[in-house]
Amino acid sequence: MTTDQDPDWAPATWLAGAHFDPDPQTGALVPPLSLATTFARGPDYQLPGPLYARDQNPTLPPVESLLARLEKAAEALLFSSGMAAATTVFEATLRPGDHLVVQDGIYWALRNWMKQFAARRDLDLTLVAAPSASAIAAALKPGKTKLVWIETPSNPLWDVIDIAALAPPVKAAGALLAVDSTAATPLLTRPLELGADLVFHAATKYLNGHSDVLSGVLATREQGTVWAAIRADRAARGAIPSALGAYLLGRGLRTLALRVARASASALDLAARLEKHPAVTAVRYPGLTSHPHHAIARVQMTGGFGGMLSIQVAGGAQAGLAVCRDVKIFRRATSFGGTESLIEHRASIEGPESPTPADLLRLSVGIEDVEDLWADLNIALTALVAGKKRG
Ligand SMILES: Cc1ncc(COP(=O)(O)O)c(C=O)c1O
Repeated sequence: MTTDQDPDWAPATWLAGAHFDPDPQTGALVPPLSLATTFARGPDYQLPGPLYARDQNPTLPPVESLLARLEKAAEALLFSSGMAAATTVFEATLRPGDHLVVQDGIYWALRNWMKQFAARRDLDLTLVAAPSASAIAAALKPGKTKLVWIETPSNPLWDVIDIAALAPPVKAAGALLAVDSTAATPLLTRPLELGADLVFHAATKYLNGHSDVLSGVLATREQGTVWAAIRADRAARGAIPSALGAYLLGRGLRTLALRVARASASALDLAARLEKHPAVTAVRYPGLTSHPHHAIARVQMTGGFGGMLSIQVAGGAQAGLAVCRDVKIFRRATSFGGTESLIEHRASIEGPESPTPADLLRLSVGIEDVEDLWADLNIALTALVAGKKRG
Protein backbone atom coordinates (compact mmCIF):
# COMPACT_ATOMS: atom_id res chain seq x y z
CA MET A 1 0.00 0.00 0.00
CA THR A 2 1.26 3.51 -0.75
CA THR A 3 1.63 6.05 2.05
CA ASP A 4 1.83 9.83 2.18
CA GLN A 5 5.43 9.59 3.37
CA ASP A 6 6.67 7.93 0.17
CA PRO A 7 9.41 9.85 -1.60
CA ASP A 8 8.28 11.44 -4.83
CA TRP A 9 10.38 9.26 -7.11
CA ALA A 10 9.54 8.56 -10.74
CA PRO A 11 8.03 5.16 -11.65
CA ALA A 12 11.28 4.12 -13.37
CA THR A 13 13.15 4.61 -10.09
CA TRP A 14 10.69 2.53 -8.08
CA LEU A 15 10.67 -0.15 -10.77
CA ALA A 16 14.44 -0.44 -11.00
CA GLY A 17 14.69 -1.53 -7.37
CA ALA A 18 13.88 1.33 -5.04
CA HIS A 19 10.65 -0.31 -3.90
CA PHE A 20 12.34 -3.15 -2.07
CA ASP A 21 14.24 -2.79 1.19
CA PRO A 22 17.10 -5.30 1.52
CA ASP A 23 16.05 -8.56 3.19
CA PRO A 24 16.49 -7.93 6.95
CA GLN A 25 18.01 -11.38 7.57
CA THR A 26 20.58 -11.55 4.78
CA GLY A 27 20.75 -8.10 3.23
CA ALA A 28 19.77 -9.66 -0.09
CA LEU A 29 19.02 -7.00 -2.67
CA VAL A 30 16.46 -9.09 -4.50
CA PRO A 31 13.35 -10.33 -2.74
CA PRO A 32 13.70 -13.96 -1.63
CA LEU A 33 11.68 -16.64 -3.41
CA SER A 34 9.59 -18.55 -0.86
CA LEU A 35 8.34 -21.99 -1.90
CA ALA A 36 6.77 -22.92 1.46
CA THR A 37 3.07 -23.71 1.56
CA THR A 38 2.83 -23.56 5.36
CA PHE A 39 4.45 -21.47 8.09
CA ALA A 40 5.38 -22.30 11.69
CA ARG A 41 3.60 -20.83 14.68
CA GLY A 42 5.42 -19.72 17.81
CA PRO A 43 5.12 -21.50 21.20
CA ASP A 44 2.26 -19.10 21.99
CA TYR A 45 0.56 -20.45 18.87
CA GLN A 46 0.73 -17.01 17.27
CA LEU A 47 1.76 -16.57 13.64
CA PRO A 48 4.77 -14.33 13.03
CA GLY A 49 4.06 -14.31 9.28
CA PRO A 50 1.69 -15.90 6.78
CA LEU A 51 -0.71 -18.74 7.61
CA TYR A 52 -0.99 -20.82 4.45
CA ALA A 53 0.04 -20.36 0.84
CA ARG A 54 -3.36 -20.69 -0.83
CA ASP A 55 -3.53 -16.92 -0.84
CA GLN A 56 -0.51 -15.86 1.19
CA ASN A 57 2.99 -16.17 -0.11
CA PRO A 58 5.73 -13.77 0.99
CA THR A 59 6.98 -13.51 -2.59
CA LEU A 60 3.80 -11.68 -3.67
CA PRO A 61 3.44 -8.58 -1.43
CA PRO A 62 6.56 -6.68 -2.61
CA VAL A 63 5.31 -7.02 -6.21
CA GLU A 64 1.77 -6.08 -5.24
CA SER A 65 2.83 -2.98 -3.34
CA LEU A 66 5.00 -1.86 -6.25
CA LEU A 67 2.04 -2.23 -8.63
CA ALA A 68 -0.23 -0.35 -6.18
CA ARG A 69 2.31 2.44 -6.05
CA LEU A 70 2.51 2.67 -9.86
CA GLU A 71 -1.27 2.75 -10.23
CA LYS A 72 -1.72 5.15 -7.26
CA ALA A 73 -4.02 2.48 -5.84
CA ALA A 74 -5.14 1.75 -2.28
CA GLU A 75 -4.17 -1.88 -2.91
CA ALA A 76 -3.20 -4.28 -5.70
CA LEU A 77 -3.63 -8.05 -5.80
CA LEU A 78 -1.92 -10.57 -8.05
CA PHE A 79 -3.85 -13.42 -9.63
CA SER A 80 -2.91 -16.67 -11.34
CA SER A 81 -3.72 -15.27 -14.81
CA GLY A 82 -5.27 -12.23 -16.40
CA MET A 83 -8.49 -14.13 -16.95
CA ALA A 84 -8.57 -15.24 -13.29
CA ALA A 85 -8.32 -11.59 -12.22
CA ALA A 86 -10.85 -10.25 -14.74
CA THR A 87 -13.48 -12.94 -14.16
CA THR A 88 -13.22 -12.36 -10.39
CA VAL A 89 -14.39 -8.77 -10.93
CA PHE A 90 -17.58 -9.94 -12.66
CA GLU A 91 -18.21 -12.69 -10.13
CA ALA A 92 -17.75 -10.30 -7.21
CA THR A 93 -19.74 -7.31 -8.46
CA LEU A 94 -22.83 -8.69 -10.16
CA ARG A 95 -26.02 -10.31 -8.84
CA PRO A 96 -28.79 -11.85 -10.95
CA GLY A 97 -30.79 -9.17 -12.75
CA ASP A 98 -27.99 -6.57 -12.64
CA HIS A 99 -27.12 -4.63 -15.78
CA LEU A 100 -23.54 -4.43 -17.04
CA VAL A 101 -22.06 -2.46 -19.91
CA VAL A 102 -19.08 -3.82 -21.81
CA GLN A 103 -17.17 -2.33 -24.72
CA ASP A 104 -17.62 -4.79 -27.59
CA GLY A 105 -14.22 -4.70 -29.33
CA ILE A 106 -12.11 -6.02 -26.46
CA TYR A 107 -10.02 -9.13 -25.79
CA TRP A 108 -12.18 -11.78 -27.46
CA ALA A 109 -11.81 -14.56 -24.87
CA LEU A 110 -12.99 -12.31 -22.05
CA ARG A 111 -15.88 -10.98 -24.14
CA ASN A 112 -16.96 -14.54 -24.98
CA TRP A 113 -16.76 -15.65 -21.36
CA MET A 114 -18.80 -12.60 -20.30
CA LYS A 115 -21.57 -13.51 -22.68
CA GLN A 116 -21.76 -17.01 -21.22
CA PHE A 117 -21.50 -15.69 -17.67
CA ALA A 118 -24.26 -13.13 -18.26
CA ALA A 119 -26.57 -15.87 -19.54
CA ARG A 120 -25.69 -18.18 -16.66
CA ARG A 121 -26.21 -15.54 -13.97
CA ASP A 122 -29.24 -13.96 -15.57
CA LEU A 123 -27.52 -10.62 -16.14
CA ASP A 124 -28.63 -7.86 -18.47
CA LEU A 125 -25.56 -7.37 -20.69
CA THR A 126 -25.16 -4.45 -23.10
CA LEU A 127 -22.23 -4.75 -25.50
CA VAL A 128 -21.42 -1.33 -26.95
CA ALA A 129 -20.08 -1.47 -30.48
CA ALA A 130 -19.07 2.20 -30.87
CA PRO A 131 -15.74 2.68 -29.06
CA SER A 132 -16.44 6.02 -27.41
CA ALA A 133 -17.09 7.31 -23.90
CA SER A 134 -20.36 8.92 -25.04
CA ALA A 135 -21.69 5.68 -26.61
CA ILE A 136 -20.80 3.72 -23.49
CA ALA A 137 -22.35 6.38 -21.21
CA ALA A 138 -25.52 6.29 -23.34
CA ALA A 139 -25.92 2.58 -22.53
CA LEU A 140 -26.02 3.16 -18.75
CA LYS A 141 -29.25 2.40 -16.88
CA PRO A 142 -29.04 4.52 -13.70
CA GLY A 143 -29.65 2.42 -10.60
CA LYS A 144 -29.49 -0.83 -12.57
CA THR A 145 -26.03 -0.76 -14.12
CA LYS A 146 -23.52 -2.09 -11.61
CA LEU A 147 -20.39 -2.47 -13.70
CA VAL A 148 -18.82 -0.93 -16.81
CA TRP A 149 -15.83 -2.74 -18.34
CA ILE A 150 -13.62 -1.10 -20.93
CA GLU A 151 -10.24 -1.87 -22.46
CA THR A 152 -7.99 0.97 -23.59
CA PRO A 153 -6.17 0.77 -25.94
CA SER A 154 -8.37 -2.16 -26.99
CA ASN A 155 -7.31 -5.30 -28.68
CA PRO A 156 -6.94 -5.60 -31.71
CA LEU A 157 -7.98 -2.18 -33.12
CA TRP A 158 -6.34 -0.17 -30.32
CA ASP A 159 -9.33 2.09 -29.76
CA VAL A 160 -8.75 4.58 -26.96
CA ILE A 161 -11.64 5.35 -24.61
CA ASP A 162 -11.64 8.66 -22.75
CA ILE A 163 -11.62 7.45 -19.13
CA ALA A 164 -11.93 10.94 -17.61
CA ALA A 165 -15.04 11.60 -19.72
CA LEU A 166 -16.65 8.24 -18.90
CA ALA A 167 -16.00 8.12 -15.14
CA PRO A 168 -18.50 10.84 -14.03
CA PRO A 169 -21.58 9.39 -15.79
CA VAL A 170 -20.69 5.88 -14.59
CA LYS A 171 -20.44 7.14 -11.02
CA ALA A 172 -23.68 9.10 -11.36
CA ALA A 173 -25.43 5.92 -12.53
CA GLY A 174 -24.24 4.12 -9.38
CA ALA A 175 -21.91 1.74 -11.25
CA LEU A 176 -18.24 0.85 -11.00
CA LEU A 177 -15.82 1.57 -13.82
CA ALA A 178 -13.19 -1.12 -14.45
CA VAL A 179 -10.44 -0.56 -17.01
CA ASP A 180 -8.31 -3.19 -18.73
CA SER A 181 -5.12 -1.16 -19.11
CA THR A 182 -2.91 -4.06 -20.23
CA ALA A 183 -1.68 -2.45 -23.46
CA ALA A 184 -1.05 0.93 -21.79
CA THR A 185 0.81 -0.42 -18.74
CA PRO A 186 0.84 1.72 -15.56
CA LEU A 187 3.53 3.86 -17.18
CA LEU A 188 1.45 5.25 -20.04
CA THR A 189 -2.00 5.58 -18.42
CA ARG A 190 -3.22 5.64 -14.81
CA PRO A 191 -6.96 4.91 -14.95
CA LEU A 192 -7.56 5.39 -11.20
CA GLU A 193 -6.26 8.97 -11.37
CA LEU A 194 -8.70 9.56 -14.24
CA GLY A 195 -11.68 8.39 -12.17
CA ALA A 196 -11.85 4.61 -12.69
CA ASP A 197 -12.63 2.41 -9.68
CA LEU A 198 -10.64 -0.68 -10.67
CA VAL A 199 -7.72 -1.19 -13.01
CA PHE A 200 -6.79 -4.54 -14.46
CA HIS A 201 -3.67 -5.82 -16.24
CA ALA A 202 -2.92 -9.14 -17.84
CA ALA A 203 0.50 -9.16 -16.12
CA THR A 204 1.37 -11.96 -18.54
CA LYS A 205 2.07 -9.19 -21.09
CA TYR A 206 4.22 -6.08 -20.49
CA LEU A 207 4.45 -6.23 -16.69
CA ASN A 208 6.31 -9.52 -16.82
CA GLY A 209 7.63 -8.80 -20.28
CA HIS A 210 9.47 -12.06 -20.96
CA SER A 211 6.69 -14.43 -22.08
CA ASP A 212 7.36 -16.82 -19.22
CA VAL A 213 4.77 -15.99 -16.54
CA LEU A 214 0.98 -16.14 -16.56
CA SER A 215 -0.48 -13.62 -14.11
CA GLY A 216 -3.07 -10.88 -13.66
CA VAL A 217 -3.38 -7.89 -11.38
CA LEU A 218 -6.27 -5.87 -10.03
CA ALA A 219 -5.75 -2.52 -8.33
CA THR A 220 -8.41 -0.51 -6.52
CA ARG A 221 -9.04 3.12 -5.65
CA GLU A 222 -11.00 2.20 -2.53
CA GLN A 223 -11.06 -0.82 -0.24
CA GLY A 224 -14.85 -1.15 0.08
CA THR A 225 -17.16 -4.16 0.04
CA VAL A 226 -16.52 -5.01 -3.63
CA TRP A 227 -12.79 -5.15 -3.02
CA ALA A 228 -13.37 -7.32 0.07
CA ALA A 229 -15.37 -9.74 -2.10
CA ILE A 230 -12.64 -9.81 -4.75
CA ARG A 231 -10.04 -10.51 -2.10
CA ALA A 232 -12.19 -13.25 -0.51
CA ASP A 233 -12.81 -14.95 -3.86
CA ARG A 234 -9.12 -14.95 -4.69
CA ALA A 235 -8.31 -16.43 -1.29
CA ALA A 236 -10.98 -19.13 -1.54
CA ARG A 237 -9.85 -20.23 -4.99
CA GLY A 238 -6.14 -19.90 -4.35
CA ALA A 239 -6.05 -17.95 -7.60
CA ILE A 240 -2.54 -16.57 -7.07
CA PRO A 241 0.55 -16.97 -9.24
CA SER A 242 3.12 -19.52 -8.13
CA ALA A 243 5.97 -18.17 -6.00
CA LEU A 244 8.31 -18.55 -8.97
CA GLY A 245 5.80 -16.74 -11.19
CA ALA A 246 5.55 -13.83 -8.74
CA TYR A 247 9.33 -13.72 -8.40
CA LEU A 248 9.81 -13.60 -12.18
CA LEU A 249 7.12 -10.95 -12.48
CA GLY A 250 8.95 -8.79 -9.92
CA ARG A 251 12.16 -9.33 -11.82
CA GLY A 252 10.54 -8.43 -15.14
CA LEU A 253 9.13 -5.22 -13.63
CA ARG A 254 12.62 -3.91 -12.96
CA THR A 255 13.05 -3.17 -16.68
CA LEU A 256 9.44 -2.21 -17.47
CA ALA A 257 10.23 1.47 -18.04
CA LEU A 258 13.05 0.69 -20.49
CA ARG A 259 11.04 -1.96 -22.34
CA VAL A 260 7.92 0.17 -22.70
CA ALA A 261 9.87 3.23 -23.84
CA ARG A 262 11.74 1.19 -26.45
CA ALA A 263 8.68 -0.70 -27.70
CA SER A 264 6.65 2.54 -27.90
CA ALA A 265 9.35 4.36 -29.86
CA SER A 266 9.82 1.45 -32.27
CA ALA A 267 6.07 0.93 -32.74
CA LEU A 268 5.57 4.61 -33.61
CA ASP A 269 8.46 4.47 -36.07
CA LEU A 270 7.18 1.27 -37.71
CA ALA A 271 3.57 2.52 -37.80
CA ALA A 272 4.64 5.69 -39.65
CA ARG A 273 6.64 3.69 -42.21
CA LEU A 274 3.95 1.03 -42.62
CA GLU A 275 1.36 3.72 -43.36
CA LYS A 276 3.32 4.55 -46.53
CA HIS A 277 3.82 0.96 -47.69
CA PRO A 278 1.89 0.11 -50.90
CA ALA A 279 0.88 -3.34 -49.54
CA VAL A 280 -0.69 -1.84 -46.40
CA THR A 281 -4.25 -0.51 -46.64
CA ALA A 282 -4.62 0.63 -43.02
CA VAL A 283 -2.54 1.04 -39.87
CA ARG A 284 -4.16 1.18 -36.44
CA TYR A 285 -1.85 2.79 -33.89
CA PRO A 286 -2.97 5.42 -31.34
CA GLY A 287 0.25 7.39 -31.89
CA LEU A 288 -0.58 8.15 -35.54
CA THR A 289 -2.53 11.30 -36.32
CA SER A 290 -4.66 9.13 -38.65
CA HIS A 291 -5.92 7.06 -35.70
CA PRO A 292 -9.53 8.05 -34.89
CA HIS A 293 -8.71 8.48 -31.19
CA HIS A 294 -5.31 10.12 -31.51
CA ALA A 295 -6.49 13.33 -29.79
CA ILE A 296 -7.70 11.36 -26.74
CA ALA A 297 -4.54 9.23 -26.71
CA ARG A 298 -2.35 12.34 -26.68
CA VAL A 299 -4.00 13.47 -23.46
CA GLN A 300 -4.61 10.12 -21.78
CA MET A 301 -1.36 8.36 -22.68
CA THR A 302 1.79 9.94 -21.32
CA GLY A 303 5.29 8.96 -22.42
CA GLY A 304 4.32 6.92 -25.48
CA PHE A 305 1.50 5.05 -27.17
CA GLY A 306 2.61 1.49 -26.44
CA GLY A 307 4.09 -1.31 -28.48
CA MET A 308 0.92 -2.69 -30.07
CA LEU A 309 -0.34 -1.93 -33.56
CA SER A 310 -2.38 -3.62 -36.25
CA ILE A 311 -2.16 -3.40 -40.02
CA GLN A 312 -4.49 -4.42 -42.80
CA VAL A 313 -2.93 -5.68 -45.99
CA ALA A 314 -4.06 -5.60 -49.62
CA GLY A 315 -5.16 -9.08 -50.75
CA GLY A 316 -7.21 -10.25 -47.75
CA ALA A 317 -6.61 -13.18 -45.41
CA GLN A 318 -4.30 -15.08 -47.79
CA ALA A 319 -2.03 -12.05 -48.18
CA GLY A 320 -1.94 -11.61 -44.39
CA LEU A 321 -1.02 -15.24 -43.88
CA ALA A 322 1.71 -14.92 -46.52
CA VAL A 323 3.26 -12.02 -44.57
CA CYS A 324 3.16 -14.13 -41.39
CA ARG A 325 4.90 -16.94 -43.30
CA ASP A 326 7.62 -14.71 -44.76
CA VAL A 327 8.78 -12.74 -41.70
CA LYS A 328 11.81 -14.06 -39.85
CA ILE A 329 12.22 -11.90 -36.76
CA PHE A 330 8.54 -11.46 -35.89
CA ARG A 331 7.40 -14.80 -34.41
CA ARG A 332 4.08 -16.30 -35.43
CA ALA A 333 2.50 -16.52 -31.99
CA THR A 334 -0.33 -15.13 -29.90
CA SER A 335 0.12 -12.94 -26.76
CA PHE A 336 2.08 -9.69 -26.57
CA GLY A 337 4.30 -7.48 -24.45
CA GLY A 338 7.45 -9.65 -24.45
CA THR A 339 10.94 -8.60 -25.47
CA GLU A 340 10.48 -10.48 -28.76
CA SER A 341 8.27 -9.16 -31.57
CA LEU A 342 5.19 -11.20 -32.47
CA ILE A 343 2.89 -11.24 -35.50
CA GLU A 344 -0.59 -12.67 -35.42
CA HIS A 345 -3.33 -13.25 -37.98
CA ARG A 346 -5.97 -12.35 -35.43
CA ALA A 347 -9.05 -13.70 -37.22
CA SER A 348 -7.47 -17.20 -37.36
CA ILE A 349 -6.94 -17.11 -33.60
CA GLU A 350 -10.44 -15.83 -32.84
CA GLY A 351 -12.22 -18.37 -35.07
CA PRO A 352 -15.16 -18.18 -37.51
CA GLU A 353 -17.27 -15.89 -35.27
CA SER A 354 -14.47 -13.30 -35.14
CA PRO A 355 -15.49 -9.69 -35.88
CA THR A 356 -11.82 -8.90 -36.69
CA PRO A 357 -11.15 -8.07 -40.37
CA ALA A 358 -9.70 -11.08 -42.23
CA ASP A 359 -6.83 -9.00 -43.59
CA LEU A 360 -5.71 -7.74 -40.16
CA LEU A 361 -2.31 -8.57 -38.67
CA ARG A 362 -1.59 -7.72 -35.07
CA LEU A 363 1.99 -6.77 -34.24
CA SER A 364 3.55 -6.79 -30.80
CA VAL A 365 6.70 -4.74 -31.20
CA GLY A 366 9.54 -5.97 -29.03
CA ILE A 367 12.88 -4.43 -28.12
CA GLU A 368 14.94 -5.65 -31.10
CA ASP A 369 16.77 -3.20 -33.37
CA VAL A 370 14.05 -1.21 -35.13
CA GLU A 371 15.83 -1.23 -38.50
CA ASP A 372 15.90 -5.04 -38.41
CA LEU A 373 12.20 -5.09 -37.57
CA TRP A 374 11.41 -2.73 -40.44
CA ALA A 375 13.50 -4.73 -42.91
CA ASP A 376 11.73 -7.93 -41.81
CA LEU A 377 8.26 -6.47 -42.40
CA ASN A 378 9.26 -4.58 -45.53
CA ILE A 379 10.63 -7.70 -47.26
CA ALA A 380 7.49 -9.72 -46.51
CA LEU A 381 5.13 -6.89 -47.51
CA THR A 382 7.05 -6.00 -50.67
CA ALA A 383 6.83 -9.65 -51.74
CA LEU A 384 3.05 -9.19 -51.73
CA VAL A 385 3.22 -6.21 -54.09
CA ALA A 386 5.74 -8.01 -56.34
CA GLY A 387 3.56 -11.16 -56.36
CA LYS A 388 0.54 -9.10 -57.44
CA LYS A 389 2.48 -7.49 -60.30
CA ARG A 390 3.66 -10.91 -61.48
CA GLY A 391 0.20 -12.42 -61.03
C1 LIG B 1 -6.19 -7.21 -23.22
C2 LIG B 1 -6.15 -8.54 -22.53
N1 LIG B 1 -6.81 -8.68 -21.37
C3 LIG B 1 -6.79 -9.87 -20.71
C4 LIG B 1 -6.12 -10.98 -21.19
C5 LIG B 1 -6.12 -12.27 -20.43
O1 LIG B 1 -4.90 -12.46 -19.78
P1 LIG B 1 -4.25 -13.92 -19.53
O2 LIG B 1 -3.89 -14.48 -20.87
O3 LIG B 1 -3.10 -13.66 -18.62
O4 LIG B 1 -5.31 -14.75 -18.85
C6 LIG B 1 -5.43 -10.87 -22.40
C7 LIG B 1 -4.71 -12.03 -22.95
O5 LIG B 1 -4.31 -12.06 -24.10
C8 LIG B 1 -5.46 -9.63 -23.08
O6 LIG B 1 -4.85 -9.48 -24.26
